[in-house]
Amino acid sequence: MWSSKSATAKVGVGDRTYEEKACDVLIVGAGGAGLRAAIEAFDKGAKTLIVCKSLMGKAHTVMAEGGIAAALGNVDPKDSWQVHFSDTIVEGQYLSNWRMAEIFAKEAIERVYELEEYGALFDRTKEGKISQRAFGAHTYRRLCHIGDRTGLELIRTLQDQVIKRGVPFMDEVALTRLMKDRKTGRVSAALGIDIRTGKLLLFRFKAVILATGGCGKIYQVTSNSHESTGDGIAMAFAAGAELMDMEMIQFHPTGMIYPAGVRGMLVTEAVRGEGGILTNAGGERFMSKYDPKRMELSARDVVARAIYTEITEGRGTKSGAVYLDITHRGPEYIKKKLPSMYDQFLEFAGVDITKQKMEVAPTVHYQMGGVRVDPETCETTVKGMYAAGEVACGLHGANRLGGNSLSDILVFGRRAGEAAAAAVSGMELPAFETSDVEAEISRVLAPFSVTDGTNPFFIKDEIAENMWKHVGIVRNEKDMTAGLREIERLRGEAARAKAVGGRAFNESWLSCLQVADMLLGSEAVIRSALERKESRGAHTRSDFPQKQDSWLVNIITVQREGKITHETRPVPKIPPELLALVEKE
Ligand code: FUM
Repeated sequence: MWSSKSATAKVGVGDRTYEEKACDVLIVGAGGAGLRAAIEAFDKGAKTLIVCKSLMGKAHTVMAEGGIAAALGNVDPKDSWQVHFSDTIVEGQYLSNWRMAEIFAKEAIERVYELEEYGALFDRTKEGKISQRAFGAHTYRRLCHIGDRTGLELIRTLQDQVIKRGVPFMDEVALTRLMKDRKTGRVSAALGIDIRTGKLLLFRFKAVILATGGCGKIYQVTSNSHESTGDGIAMAFAAGAELMDMEMIQFHPTGMIYPAGVRGMLVTEAVRGEGGILTNAGGERFMSKYDPKRMELSARDVVARAIYTEITEGRGTKSGAVYLDITHRGPEYIKKKLPSMYDQFLEFAGVDITKQKMEVAPTVHYQMGGVRVDPETCETTVKGMYAAGEVACGLHGANRLGGNSLSDILVFGRRAGEAAAAAVSGMELPAFETSDVEAEISRVLAPFSVTDGTNPFFIKDEIAENMWKHVGIVRNEKDMTAGLREIERLRGEAARAKAVGGRAFNESWLSCLQVADMLLGSEAVIRSALERKESRGAHTRSDFPQKQDSWLVNIITVQREGKITHETRPVPKIPPELLALVEKE
């Protein structure tokens, strides 16, 4: 196994030397998508290496707590891939790529059974089948689960498989830039930092799979942890990849509201799936006004907007929240089905959810937008670069259904691994330009030479405050324009971001580099949101409140002559036989 632990010599801040590593397929990120891709690439014979910037096992995947969506039909036998396909398209407000949705709904079933074979300990029905629970806007009870720790069990299971196979991995390695073979345009190398030592590393590969997750940390209130700075998106974009539908940011309806240190922490949708009831400060079960049929199990965008409206119109609690009540299910049931929620509220907020109501408010949870990929292979618009999971775009359209992310990462992680391994078979390592590496080293080390510079932690906070204030659940042109101006100002600050201290374990240095990624992500979100002059799914504009057929387009963000520009492309037409499924449902 490759490890950077042995490298102990202290690295000077100006040291430009780097160590080279080579592999066939480099996997960037060790959440569910990265691990599943690694298993597949390795099993298909590719010399595979995983790098991740956190410790192995720490990924946003664990924040998909309530379940993995797949139409097994164990609890509701009428369920089928066709209904799952239809739910995904309809709730994505017709922005999803139909072929991705078709592949996804079909293959999610086999991926869940495979996960079970790998050793995942799913909750069971009385008959011993994998148990499935209700979740918002899924027609049937479809969420296979392990209490409220489904993402965690998924990671544990895949990690076991990776370790069992002996797939090499290097954790605490942050990549900063992808480089290309100039002759072929194929992506061929990446510069990275060994976080433990501060040493530079140059990875050479025949294909790279980005599985880096999203950019949730560009928002102040989020369920994402500090890793979600959008580095995969920024690296892909800098290498020339197209981004798509970046305006589509998912606000999960229920995050914790206090204490301040855990504001935004996820309160799983499984609470509502298990019968949780939402009320405002006046005791009104307000979802009857917004979706009387589905109530608390409406789509995420609908519930998040409903809670937002209750709070902003003055019907929230003193803490700026609404109530979520599960006490009627009784302590035994709650502790069995929602053990993490029970512990989380007791430990952090001093609230016993078997006896007391929770206070909740929306929190940024997921990005539906990301790097545009081919539906079959997950290849991006740059040769040799693949993307899977939250960093990739195409499946979820304007609103992701809860639980669809876990099946997404297994289905498309596997496909990316398979396609990358097939593509590199028999290939020589592609070339790279030393001058590109030298230029990147200069960029990466620049924060150490800044005198009288800006503290990058403050810039991060300002980015997140700005996005929360100006590009939130309900947006309009005036606010977003102000938000964009602020991003432009912060870009100036970021150019003067200063790293203090040495190179090993230096969060201030890494943050100087991350603010550039966060600014790119923020700008892409704002510009796409300004472009889409309608309200659709998670994108709600007070100045354009209606959904318009003329906006049945994907918004593509591309780089032209160093500038971020946009173009719109019609969403690929759903073939008649699949459209019939949607219309039937
Ligand atoms: O609420 C949740 O458990 C989140 C699930 C998801 O994002 O898929």
